[in-house]
Amino acid sequence: MQFPKIIQGGMGVGVSNWRLANAVSKLGQLGVVSGTALDSLFVRRLADGDQGGHMRRGLDAFPFPEMAKRIWQEYFIPGGKPAGAPYPLPPMHQRRDLRKVVELCIVSNFVEVFLAREGHKNPVGINFLEKVQMPHLSSIYGAMLAGVGYVLMGAGIPLHIPGVMDALAAHHPAEYRLAVVGAAQDQDTAMHFDPADYAEGPLPILHRPQFLAIVSSNTLATTMLRRATGRVNGLILETPTAGGHNAPPRGKLQLNTAGEPVYGVRDQVDIAGLRALGVPFWLAGGYGSPEKVREALDQGAAGVQVGTAFAFTEESALRPDLKESLLLQAMDGSGQVFTDPLASPTGFPFKVAQLDGSYSDPVIAEARPRVCDLGYLREPYATPEGNIGYRCAAEPVANFLAKGGKIEETVGRKCLCNALMANVGCQQTRKDGYVEPPLVTVGDDLNTVAQFVTPGRASYSVAQVIESLLSQVTEQEAPAEQELAATA
Ligand SMILES: Cc1cc2nc3c(=O)[nH]c(=O)nc-3n(C[C@H](O)[C@H](O)[C@H](O)COP(=O)(O)O)c2cc1C
Repeated sequence: MQFPKIIQGGMGVGVSNWRLANAVSKLGQLGVVSGTALDSLFVRRLADGDQGGHMRRGLDAFPFPEMAKRIWQEYFIPGGKPAGAPYPLPPMHQRRDLRKVVELCIVSNFVEVFLAREGHKNPVGINFLEKVQMPHLSSIYGAMLAGVGYVLMGAGIPLHIPGVMDALAAHHPAEYRLAVVGAAQDQDTAMHFDPADYAEGPLPILHRPQFLAIVSSNTLATTMLRRATGRVNGLILETPTAGGHNAPPRGKLQLNTAGEPVYGVRDQVDIAGLRALGVPFWLAGGYGSPEKVREALDQGAAGVQVGTAFAFTEESALRPDLKESLLLQAMDGSGQVFTDPLASPTGFPFKVAQLDGSYSDPVIAEARPRVCDLGYLREPYATPEGNIGYRCAAEPVANFLAKGGKIEETVGRKCLCNALMANVGCQQTRKDGYVEPPLVTVGDDLNTVAQFVTPGRASYSVAQVIESLLSQVTEQEAPAEQELAATA
């Protein structure tokens, strides 16, 4: 059994969709679909008329046909919604989700993994952000019903996910404690999910996927291995040059003259210490080149996790106009990436590609009316009455303040939910015609993706990236026909 040398990192929302992950896994590396906001993305694909019929194919393979039928009947629009018409919005998540929200999560996660696994026998992974907690239980179950081989999770400390996976593999009820700001010690904040409430007939045998925790420090790596509620099969060590969200620097936040967080010696990782933990590990953040893959292997890593290089492949779901503009920037070496300490309502630094006409443009950011209608990044908080409320620092300021939020938390915040939907061509159009702008996240190494573009071409494929990344890896290290370690 071998572990993959290359993990194509999960890229939300929907950038690493089933098509990209399928292409990577087919070539014997680990393709990872993003599980973030898949339920809303699924609704939008159906509202766009399910181009290519892929969602329908996935639904036909879903083990609970009545549930699949309900979702299809509610959201599918034959031929697609009229241009300029708003997308329908499913209800937002909460601690106790409505049944139809749970069903959407189970089904959409199933379909994404099912499609990523079609046509080959290699494992496929799914990525979630720990901070986006409310959809966890139903999403993981849906992905497991489709035989997901790996679950990868970071952006928080996913100590309880391994235990959840153990329970769900046996179709047992699972519980996850929602982090609620200001909750009293004895307040019940647990979310519950019982597969028996959703089954239609006999349940398929499930395998427990491998669990890889995405961490940013040795301390976190050790904590995950010591305190997780079940087995952690490996670690992905992600440094702050990586695309997407980054872990904040240790200690008091300091900004450089450009306004980006400054990382110091305390943020450096001790690879020898990581090796000593005795589990397979992958390095992420600027490892998208043959030299860096070699370096990682020489340091004892099982391989690397790469995002940015895959985000610009022909197979990725990033909107073609955005892909093209940023690839052109990379090719002339002018691409600029800003580590924005404020943009994300999570409070984590978020990498933003600077692109005219996108939400990175201050004029566009200023002009965007604040709306919160997807709500994945809302923070649960304890109300004075002892209930749970939900607020997002990017929602209309007055609403946020009325929910006890602080004015300073609203400054510079951007609606990532709507922006990330726009990145994959599912931008919401408002009743007044306003169209949500995209906001592209990439790693600091944006310009290096030019290495994959061959002369005379303006794009590159997954196969080219994998061939290039493995070019300094020996045949013994990465046999052409390898059986990857996974239960799928
Ligand atoms: C467009 C994009 C979206 C990303 N979204 C996520 C995500 O949803 N969850 C996650 O854990 N990591 C996310 N990442 C991080 C990648 O999974 C990966 O760890 C990172 O890109 C590796 O560094 P690199 O960009 O230098 O290759 C994202 C990265 C990119 C470029």
